[in-house]
Amino acid sequence: MPTKSLPEIPSYELDFAGYSASEETELDSFDHLSAYRKLGPIYTVQFRGEKWICLGGMEANDVAWRNPDMWDYHSALSPFRDVMGDRHVTQMDGKPHRRKRRQLKPGFAMSAIGRWIPSIDGVLKSRLADIEGQQTSLADFFMSALTCANSKTVLQAPLSEEAIKVFIRFEESFIGATVWEKSRRDAFYASEAFLADKNFVFNLLAELVKERIARLPEKAEDNFSEVLSLTLEDNDGQVDLQELVSEAYLLLMAGTGNTAKLLNCGLQHILADDDLQAELRKELEGYGPESFARGMEAFPKLKATIMEIERMFPAAPVLARTVATPFEFMGYPLEKGDKVLHMQTLPHFLEEIYEDPYTFKPARWLEKKYPKKSQGTFGGSTHICLGMNLARVHMPIALANILANYDLEQTSESDIKVNLNYGVPQVSDISGRFVARSK
Ligand code: HEM
Repeated sequence: MPTKSLPEIPSYELDFAGYSASEETELDSFDHLSAYRKLGPIYTVQFRGEKWICLGGMEANDVAWRNPDMWDYHSALSPFRDVMGDRHVTQMDGKPHRRKRRQLKPGFAMSAIGRWIPSIDGVLKSRLADIEGQQTSLADFFMSALTCANSKTVLQAPLSEEAIKVFIRFEESFIGATVWEKSRRDAFYASEAFLADKNFVFNLLAELVKERIARLPEKAEDNFSEVLSLTLEDNDGQVDLQELVSEAYLLLMAGTGNTAKLLNCGLQHILADDDLQAELRKELEGYGPESFARGMEAFPKLKATIMEIERMFPAAPVLARTVATPFEFMGYPLEKGDKVLHMQTLPHFLEEIYEDPYTFKPARWLEKKYPKKSQGTFGGSTHICLGMNLARVHMPIALANILANYDLEQTSESDIKVNLNYGVPQVSDISGRFVARSK
């Protein structure tokens, strides 16, 4: 049978921007929203000497999430394997990936996390009290408070303040470099400073894992002990230390940078809106450690505020993919090995879905229901964010404790903008002092 000849995918450079590819250097220099408007949900860009196929809009989310096995995560997410090993969930495919997700489930299911709500609240409360009146960076505060909370709940490990600092430095530099060009990233992952932090983090977790195994069948009362049991059971008792270290790392540290970013960006918007602040404080009157134990139904405005933070500040707005199985999208062919940029949060900024998309408007979530396919902050389908439940427990607790009990005296200007070019995460730290509110 003759093969159908399919049309060429439109080109960002030739059909939209009208310039040569060499002028593009950084991820955030692309104007994907305008390109989507002009070219539609599929076009190519030249980036770092390679062709990438950009997929965006509701159509792209539908196809990408309905057929997860058409992607080759092993190739696209190799930086995670380089640092965390070949049993690390993010870079796995197909059956082994599903098995790993099953092993990790008792660590991350809402039922396993919800029981820690009062303890997480206690940690946030005491860390806020510790820094009351002191100059602090919000991003640092959130990351260290959340890591500390994890170390007392989902994976119980005594972590000194110094150790928390090293864990944060490692996570931030590891994740930051995943989007770098390969030779630069390889050099960084081999650098003395990075290896020193990595050894510190991995050795500490390896000791913890060994100690847990030595104590079996006695189990610690945390989420990690359940994950450990399931993994050992699936491996017929064989110990792959790096696999278990990677699992422990997920519970203790992974994703805290993203949660911190959302909180930081969101808090800046809340603080800039006196009416919203007043409404949230009113809703939070009587807030206590057990308040969220049965969900957020009693706090609709806070819930809506968090949904709006997730919409406007998706910390990972685009996802790199490699095609595993050829497929057609909107009549265009994608071949095995093609590199794809799945712009899964592009619908967040389309006015036909979210009216006035560049305005921070939590009330929209109280007035309207939005389709799941238009919400890409945590990705979707089989590789949907493993830590979503944890992030959605951490965020309301952090905001409730701050808004109910403190004013923030800012000592730096907020300089946070939604990236109109829709390219890279929006990060802009602020510093200030939390000052106890008189009630
Ligand atoms: C607001 C905070 C967070 C955001 C915006 C976020 C975002 C994402 C996104 C977009 C993905 C999909 C990646 C892909 O498909 O390639 C993802 C996956 C993942 N996230 Fe998160 N994340 C957050 C918090 C967390 C936390 C707290 C943890 C861990 C405790 C975590 C662990 C993971 C893991 C392990 C994956 C890979 C899952 C898999 O491949 O099966 N994330 N996250």
